[in-house]
Amino acid sequence: MENQGRRRCRKLVLVPCPFQGHINPMLQLGTILHSRGFSITIAHAQFNSPQTSNHPDFVFLSLPDGTSSKPAMPHDFLPFMSKLNFNCKDPFQEILSLMIEKQEQDDQLPCIIFEIFMSFAQEVASHLKLPNIIFHTNSVATLLTFLAYARLKAEGYTPPQDSTSTELVPGLHPLRFKDLPVTNFAHLDGMWRVIAMLSNIGSSSAIIWNTMDCLEQSVLAQYQRQCQVPNFSIGPMHKIASAPSSSLLEEDSSCISWLDKQGHNSVIYASFGSIASVDAKELTEMAWGLANSQQTFLWVLRPDPAKGSEPSDCLPDDFKETVGERGCIVKWAPQQLVLAHSSVGGFLSHCGWNSTLESISEGVPMICKPAFGDQLINTRYISHEWGNGFELENDLGRGEIERAIKMLMVEKEGQEMRQRAAELKEKTQVSIKSGSGHPSYECSEILQLSYVVTVWMSLTLCN
Ligand code: UDX
Repeated sequence: MENQGRRRCRKLVLVPCPFQGHINPMLQLGTILHSRGFSITIAHAQFNSPQTSNHPDFVFLSLPDGTSSKPAMPHDFLPFMSKLNFNCKDPFQEILSLMIEKQEQDDQLPCIIFEIFMSFAQEVASHLKLPNIIFHTNSVATLLTFLAYARLKAEGYTPPQDSTSTELVPGLHPLRFKDLPVTNFAHLDGMWRVIAMLSNIGSSSAIIWNTMDCLEQSVLAQYQRQCQVPNFSIGPMHKIASAPSSSLLEEDSSCISWLDKQGHNSVIYASFGSIASVDAKELTEMAWGLANSQQTFLWVLRPDPAKGSEPSDCLPDDFKETVGERGCIVKWAPQQLVLAHSSVGGFLSHCGWNSTLESISEGVPMICKPAFGDQLINTRYISHEWGNGFELENDLGRGEIERAIKMLMVEKEGQEMRQRAAELKEKTQVSIKSGSGHPSYECSEILQLSYVVTVWMSLTLCN
């Protein structure tokens, strides 16, 4: 028994989509699976390369992606991703072929886990006959919304002309027409490519979701009924794995010592993720809305290299003087720590899926100011399904922003949302199923997932 005692390599190759809101959950997933005994290789695009030094247990492989400039988001997302998928395919195939060639006799073939937008990874995996699994970093409701376009079209549904219509979308409760990522059905060209990508299960053997049953049980069950492969909802991943930071920008931790000096639930945290941008007018209205609310606030003003100037330079002259110590402004915050801080009592957010999960996990109620895409869907669920926040319509002035903040932080309606946020936090903790010592790893879905991955890898054992 020459090979007896030699540890079988259970190798996973993870392929993240290169944007902050997608890199974070993929590296968290890597941390979870590493803790279950898998070796983790991250095959990433050159664009927005992850900070490798923060993850000494992972192997990082950089794929030449042929992209020379930063895409203007969200408009350039599709052409950028098409180019990246095209350019990364061959280098990825070469890397995997080499990996297979070099493996030892009793090693198992690697299993590929790829973010749904990195479809080249599935093409390569199918070609090399490697087991592969899809990872979705958005909500299940978002996927079902995209898939519904085809159904609505097939049913001959004619959407209202008005993109601000509050008419409910048939079969997509609780979404209104205005909550759809694209409302103009006459211009769905690019959308069909996204839908084709999202609906392609191809050779994949399972789907992993960064979501929780306590939030999305019914939509998950609905999707599972139309899907041939098992779905695993193992979120919120950032609470399951205590993964190191995967921030692409440097986190300014000084805001944590500032938070330490504030009262319980007294601070409104305002941050709009890594992509959404605010124009000069919105910035001014937001600044005075925060200032006039008389609440203490922490505000992330992310620099936008495309604009050349720092957003904080564009703040009104007398703004900083007016707010003094009552406001803290940073370029990038350690958001998970911020939301977990006892001083933070509300989150004014664009409602990206990670921000939504991070807020729910900490029981922080939200004011939703979505910018595009899935943020509109998440907002509708927060305000009309889960009840842990409300929507602030776009293009509103300082008066409405001030009133919204006061409502969340000091008024009765805000108290009720805080209560619902606390209940959701509790349900989240129950769904994580803490065990002693190693909380999260007791989570039954993760155990099942590890089992499934291991079995597939055994089935494809190299002879
Ligand atoms: C993008 C899309 O815009 C979003 O709609 C989609 O759901 C995911 O991909 P992004 O806009 O960056 O994501 O938002 P979000 O999903 O909230 O992810 C942002 C991540 O950056 C979060 O994990 C958050 O904790 C982190 N973050 C944000 C920081 O670490 N510091 C900050 O100052 C702000």
